[in-house]
Amino acid sequence: MGGIHTQGRVLSGMRPTGHLHLGHYHGVLKNWVSLQQEYDCFFFVADWHALTTHYEDSGIIAESLWDMVIDWLAAGVNPSSARLFIQSQVPEHAELHLLLSMVTPIGWLERVPSYKDQQEKLRERDLATYGFLGYPLLQGADILIYGADKVPVGEDQVAHVELTREIARRFNHIYGRETGYEEAAEAAIKKMGKKNARLYRQLLKRYQEQGDHEAIEVARALLAEQQNLAISDQERLLGFLEGGGRMILTEPEALLTPASKMPGLDGQKMSKSYHNTISLRERPDDVQEKLRTMPTDPARVRRTDPGNPDICPVWQLHQVYSGEDVQAWVREGCTTAGIGCLDCKQPVIDSVLGELQPIQERAREFEQDPGRVRAIINEGGEAARAVARATLEEVRAAMGLNY
Ligand code: TRP
Ligand code: SF4
Repeated sequence: MGGIHTQGRVLSGMRPTGHLHLGHYHGVLKNWVSLQQEYDCFFFVADWHALTTHYEDSGIIAESLWDMVIDWLAAGVNPSSARLFIQSQVPEHAELHLLLSMVTPIGWLERVPSYKDQQEKLRERDLATYGFLGYPLLQGADILIYGADKVPVGEDQVAHVELTREIARRFNHIYGRETGYEEAAEAAIKKMGKKNARLYRQLLKRYQEQGDHEAIEVARALLAEQQNLAISDQERLLGFLEGGGRMILTEPEALLTPASKMPGLDGQKMSKSYHNTISLRERPDDVQEKLRTMPTDPARVRRTDPGNPDICPVWQLHQVYSGEDVQAWVREGCTTAGIGCLDCKQPVIDSVLGELQPIQERAREFEQDPGRVRAIINEGGEAARAVARATLEEVRAAMGLNY
């Protein structure tokens, strides 16, 4: 797929391995909701990725999958702005994964930090498998097949996007050199007309001689404007800019998801493995109960003991949910023993319930209409497949497989 979209393209995936909770909402989902307004977005259920770690209890995938899609929709991910689909329903991902595997040095995969880290962390699972080693390459295929230029991910996934860039570069280097490439590029430059051709050459020179990255950006924009250049010519000239061959696969950029400030009930990061979550479908009574019983400053044993918000997980929640006035009330009341911990928690309880209420209401609507959810996923899948097929056609042709 070419690197030219009038609007940047965003792709991201999520593994269906359990309930989504407020950590996901404040981290990933709100971010998706804002990205969908600005970019051409593709969001998918990474069921094959879940299988790489959960192949022995694969039932969890089907169990979580529809709830997860419903949670996306309930959180405001909008199927008329973003394409939503399921990875395994676009089998082209697997074909691209296979083709890319031919040019991927094993050492590159072994060196990805998550490979060893996850094996250490998930000791109860045997992750010494071919599939798990290939995890980041499968992710690379997910990204490259849509020509995505931006990939919203957490810190732990940045290395996977980095690997994807290296694979794209290697692929373009190996398969992007047509015979007569320089001549074809020269001919394409001429097609832009005198003025633009001169501008393009100047920009190219500025980049090649002075390493001026801004020149590349300007040249990219210039190419994107050329209505009379065929896509193949645009790609050729893009590749020319980067000093390699024709650009068949687009190098993506990681778009670091702002770290969720949402702490768990114990003050650590909210995470299923710490058992400190509030799920998006948590019943209001249970939300209340969980927050009422969550730990506070351990030194504040009696109501009359003053406390220290800085070591209290409830204070972290106030930083997410409360305005300055309430925060001032907490600090004052806590440090002077003017308020009790239950008093202190009440505004947080109200805020969390208020936040979940519309989400849960929308989730119920979608739950009652599974046909609608399936239709959204089918439509998203069709749109995704059309893009994926076009990329594969180019990839097959570049590799000489278009008999
Ligand atoms: N590996 C990602 C995670 O665990 C999920 C994922 C799969 C993904 N393919 C992707 C994310 C492509 C971004 C782009 O969170
Ligand atoms: Fe924590 Fe609030 Fe109790 Fe202070 S009053 S210890 S901030 S819960």
